[in-house]
Amino acid sequence: MKVLANDGISQSGIDALEKGGFEVITTTVAQEQLINYINEKDITVLLVRSATTVRKDLIDACPNLKIIGRGGVGMDNIDVEYAREQGRSVINTPAASSHSVAELVFGHLFGLARFLHNSNREMPLEGDSNFKGLKKAYAKGTELKGKTLGVLGFGRIGQATAKVAIGAGMKVVAFDPFIDEANLQLDFFDGQKLNFNIKTISKEDVLKQVDFLTLHVPAQDKYVIGKPELDIMKDGAILVNAARGGVVDEVALVEAISSGKIARAALDVFEKEPKPEMQLLMNPALSLTPHTGAATNEAQDRIGTELAEQIISILK
Ligand SMILES: NC(=O)c1ccc[n+]([C@@H]2O[C@H](COP(=O)([O-])OP(=O)(O)OC[C@H]3O[C@@H](n4cnc5c(N)ncnc54)[C@H](O)[C@@H]3O)[C@@H](O)[C@H]2O)c1
Repeated sequence: MKVLANDGISQSGIDALEKGGFEVITTTVAQEQLINYINEKDITVLLVRSATTVRKDLIDACPNLKIIGRGGVGMDNIDVEYAREQGRSVINTPAASSHSVAELVFGHLFGLARFLHNSNREMPLEGDSNFKGLKKAYAKGTELKGKTLGVLGFGRIGQATAKVAIGAGMKVVAFDPFIDEANLQLDFFDGQKLNFNIKTISKEDVLKQVDFLTLHVPAQDKYVIGKPELDIMKDGAILVNAARGGVVDEVALVEAISSGKIARAALDVFEKEPKPEMQLLMNPALSLTPHTGAATNEAQDRIGTELAEQIISILK
């Protein structure tokens, strides 16, 4: 049986599938040629990440396609319900990248707290002519230890981020309309474990008290953070969005930065991907990454092997 990994798959995933007797094709087939390719090559499993879309037309036109797999979490690029109604299996790997996203959030947080995002932009330009000036400009950094991190959305990634925060000595407060409390287990290098029970509080209470705010909610119809929410926050707070473009109102964020309400922010996801607004890309108060929250070797390995295990158990 043939597996088409149209948006790529880790070598560990290929190895596991081949060991299970599958042929793995890693060619990236253009969206408009996908239906023909799947039928001509008699593909049984189509694996995608976020680039390839799997809509009704493809599902109808490819009757021999048995499994549609998404490496990662969000399945907005797949007509999941329709595919399932048509008897196809739709699988994903919801937990594989949680810790990777959490670490990216902290990359941004540590960087923003010490102006690394700007220092890295300006040292190549002025590091030899204005060393003292830059040293002064970036002198008023802050530590994360002892500060309060607010987590909006206390699911897999929110909880993974909270664990890193606790490890860094932060206080964690969280809001999630569907989770009242969560037990977080921190595992240490020498086998010791520590458990933390965190009860969620109201969104307003989170917003009022945090020094740093991070969002880990799914895609929504309306902004989770817009002007009214930013207005509640402490002056000079720092915000990170590594959830989904469209959960933070980018215009309101830029305005809040201009007014000093929000000191600095990080964006890994954008309302307009893959062409984020220029006013975001050029803003010196923003630390930016091109949607690389899940892009670690470890997460990709886990995604590949988890998909392979599920495919083998469904088809064998
Ligand atoms: N940056 C990246 O590369 C990257 C990678 C993976 C996932 N993500 C995104 O991260 C987000 C979280 O993923 P996850 O695996 O933790 O999902 P999850 O389903 O485990 O957790 C999401 C949580 O958000 C809560 N929630 C829903 N609406 C809310 C709201 N309005 N306010 C507060 N909480 C709300 C839900 O109850 C749920 O507990 C998703 O949007 C996902 O697409 C981003």
